[in-house]
Amino acid sequence: MSNNLDASSNSNVLARGRLAMLGAHLIPSELPHHDILQTLPLSAQLPPPNLAGTLTLVDDRTGKSYQLQVSKDGTVKASDLKKISAGQNDKGLKLYDPGYLNTAPVRSAISYIDGDEGVLRYRGYPIEELAEKSTFTEVSYLIMYGSLPSESQLAEWKFAISQHSALPQGVLDIIQSMPHDAHPMGVLVNAMSALSVFHPDANPALRGLDIYDSKQIRDKQITRVIGKITTIAAAVYLRMAGRPPVLPSNHLSYTENFLYMLDSFGNRSYKPNPRLTHALDIIFILHAEHEMNCSTSAVRHLASSGVDVYTAIAGAVGALYGPLHGGANEAVLKMLSEIGTAQNIPEFIEGVKARKRKLSGFGHRVYKNYDPRAKVLRKLAEEVFAIVGWDPLIEVAVALEKVALSDEYFIKRKLYPNVDFYSGLIYRAMGFPPEYFTVLFAIPRMAGYMAHWRESLDDPDTKIMRPQQVYIGECLRHYTPINARTTSSDADKLGDVAMSNASKRRLAGSGL
Ligand code: CMC
Repeated sequence: MSNNLDASSNSNVLARGRLAMLGAHLIPSELPHHDILQTLPLSAQLPPPNLAGTLTLVDDRTGKSYQLQVSKDGTVKASDLKKISAGQNDKGLKLYDPGYLNTAPVRSAISYIDGDEGVLRYRGYPIEELAEKSTFTEVSYLIMYGSLPSESQLAEWKFAISQHSALPQGVLDIIQSMPHDAHPMGVLVNAMSALSVFHPDANPALRGLDIYDSKQIRDKQITRVIGKITTIAAAVYLRMAGRPPVLPSNHLSYTENFLYMLDSFGNRSYKPNPRLTHALDIIFILHAEHEMNCSTSAVRHLASSGVDVYTAIAGAVGALYGPLHGGANEAVLKMLSEIGTAQNIPEFIEGVKARKRKLSGFGHRVYKNYDPRAKVLRKLAEEVFAIVGWDPLIEVAVALEKVALSDEYFIKRKLYPNVDFYSGLIYRAMGFPPEYFTVLFAIPRMAGYMAHWRESLDDPDTKIMRPQQVYIGECLRHYTPINARTTSSDADKLGDVAMSNASKRRLAGSGL
């Protein structure tokens, strides 16, 4: 027994030593927070300036000039461009912006990112400060209602969340009925959308479009989603492990309760390791909110139609599942396992540069600098490894990061590690299978989704989201009867639809 302890403490010391050595190769991240803040340029420390004014545009096609209003936020209304027309059949100028590279469909006060400086703040609070000093429960309140809670507000918030953490049996049955090899994110999408049918009381289609005008009804859906997500996520995990779901406990913290459901086998006196709980809580803080990313904008998009909030959230979870978004943490782990050892990195990097594949966990639409969340996670990995043991893939990750950050391809494109680069290694060290990683991202992100849902309901500018297109198809054709049609060999058509041998066997029978 004592030998085992000695061995584990030795390996912990070894792990710390190796990580410290690897850390020395990386860009500095261990500055105290006040120093981090002081290293920021003034633009990232001061409130944004008033940018209001006018913009005069001259249309060279017609020689006409137009004056557009610029708001104090430095935006022009895309609909103001409509008046700029070349005449004839021109219905007015439009913005062509695939992927919304420079289009802001909402104004939001929830989180702030300065992608050039690697800054992320929730309601004005730097993410590093929150990760160090706060808890996920407190941060989710901050994100939702705009201020850090008082003691009594926090107690009420915790109570409301725990009161809504139980699941209808039908949702558990849906989770259980999924195919044995279903991806956990696919199961999560189904479970979230099932909440819609199990809560008809909150459905605008049944109760009227104005149902969410009531603060009480909104708050109830918020606490339901945040309360139930850990219970759903635990049931999804336990189903993968072939174990029955465990009821939530009201006497534990949010993150503790989640780990309790995973590991207690229903033993009510079980308590998860406090250091691992704390590490996971920090990860939850880092993932709670990230303004108008693909899945959060999906929540706003779906909710703008007036659909119930659970269906909107299910759509967002679907968006999060994608390997370019939240699914990247799973892809990173698979990539690191494929690379295997540091010697294989140069060949892998050449493949990335030759566009054979992407470097998962690198690059970001907004960050053109180190993702501040990745910095916190890299340090957190050290804590977790000290408890559960060293993961050799961290060496591959650190070496890969070093090579990429000094390579012209990545420097030129400003590609840095993002939040998903290190999170997978921590999840793996904590014993989660890669397919489950994105579920761990989804749990805390409910706070961000619900805050955006709430904000959109109060925003007088909210409209059903309905982007425009630029039509590039045939102008006008007339219907030809089938026997008068000619088909060109290069016209698009249905290709070969693969048929399974089972279908061939069935078709070979008679009486179909
Ligand atoms: N590996 C190799 N090249 C890359 C990568 C990468 N990870 N990311 C971007 N590039 C290249 C891209 O090929 C393009 O090169 P070029 O200008 O020569 O065509 C250039 O960099 C700009 O990239 P982009 O695809 O136009 O940038 P984007 O803003 O549309 O995409 C991104 C952002 C996150 C989808 C992309 O960087 C990516 O696919 N990264 C890998 C997946 C990933 O880690 N996703 C997690 C994002 S953070 C968490 C989250 O959102 O959930």
